[in-house]
Amino acid sequence: MARVLVVGGGGREHAIVHALSKSSKVSQIYAAPGNAGIAKLAVCVNIKDTDVDNLVNFAKYEKIDLVVIGPEASLALGIVDKMIEAGIKVFGPTKAASQIECSKKFAKDLMLKYNIPTAKYQSFDKYEQAVSYVEGLSLPIVLKYDGLAAGKGVVIAYSIDEAIETLKDMLLDDKFGHGKVVIEQYLEGLEFSFMCLVDHEHVYPLEMAQDHKRAYNDDLGPNTGGMGAYSPLPFITKEDYDFALNEIMIKTSKAMVNEGIPFTGVLYGGLMKTKDGIKVIEFNARFGDPETEVVLPRLKSDIYDVFMAIINHEEPKLVWDDSYTIGIVLATKGYPGHYEKGFIIENADSDDIYHMGTKIDDNGNLVTNGGRVLFAVGKGKSLKEANQKAIELVKEIKCDALFYRTDIGAKAYRK
Ligand code: AMP
Ligand code: GLY
Repeated sequence: MARVLVVGGGGREHAIVHALSKSSKVSQIYAAPGNAGIAKLAVCVNIKDTDVDNLVNFAKYEKIDLVVIGPEASLALGIVDKMIEAGIKVFGPTKAASQIECSKKFAKDLMLKYNIPTAKYQSFDKYEQAVSYVEGLSLPIVLKYDGLAAGKGVVIAYSIDEAIETLKDMLLDDKFGHGKVVIEQYLEGLEFSFMCLVDHEHVYPLEMAQDHKRAYNDDLGPNTGGMGAYSPLPFITKEDYDFALNEIMIKTSKAMVNEGIPFTGVLYGGLMKTKDGIKVIEFNARFGDPETEVVLPRLKSDIYDVFMAIINHEEPKLVWDDSYTIGIVLATKGYPGHYEKGFIIENADSDDIYHMGTKIDDNGNLVTNGGRVLFAVGKGKSLKEANQKAIELVKEIKCDALFYRTDIGAKAYRK
């Protein structure tokens, strides 16, 4: 029986731990650092996801059979390389391969070289050159800081002044760190997330999902880490699917092999269905959050076997149920801006509620511990039924400090 360590402490990791807890091959699950929801299924270890050396030591000491990495921050620090060096089996890409997420310029250059469809772009490290470039562009202008910026490194500027102000923040004042800026063509269309298990040139698609990035109903308000998701996607035709798989995900995986930096783990295509076809908005080198929480509950196969198959260069068995899932994020009022922590939460015990940012306080209460706090998943025979169940679940949760969107998936099921 296997001992597994999951690195991370959000809803994504809760969903991974939940799936692992159903495996007949797993005897013990650890999560570092985990959260209050995860703690019901795993032993939470107080090591940060960025404390790579201690995570490696823990895995060695505890004779862990498999480590699964959740967050990009751990990948960017080379946690996979260090686990492999220590002889530990680990699911995730190397530091070099995770550049596909961590460096926008790397991803863009790869797509250009291998003819993978994406928005046109230019990259700059000199403020003056970037300013004279944007002055010749039509609006809106998409500006991306070239590095990890916790989802805050993308600005869509609707005026030249705003674009110049953003360039000043990114290139002169180093607001996100010292780096380059990618300036790209604005695309319009439906966004969706295509997560694939990748073992070098072999690509095994997971079911698709759609995230909802804006804070409030009708896609209003600021961009967030994601306020809800659903799966599968009625608006994706067979033709769309084949194109996304063959011309984007497989082509990209082969490109990585060709570059001498093969990818292993989850390659996440943040794609957009535009009037000129499907294009890449971004790649991530990990499971999406909250997409994972609506996709994994539909997986019938043993997820431990799936992870091990990828690591052992074998074909994983992926069997899905034919249900629909809709998940709603409950976030702390103020998010994605300033918010407080420590509000007491009651009635969040359901198995279908994933914890994104919670902890148990000194008095033994379940309290909020982040911007995104809980994720309630409804499952049904249609998106409408899934939505009803998700809303029912949300209404049971007692915490005045939280807000949520009521229209997750609505564009798909109201048609
Ligand atoms: P990213 O971090 O690259 O995924 O960007 C965050 C969000 O900004 C995306 O989910 C899109 O909604 C939006 N976005 C990024 N690039 C573009 C683009 N070229 N055109 C339109 N919207 C974009
Ligand atoms: N849901 C977006 C992400 O995981 O990056």
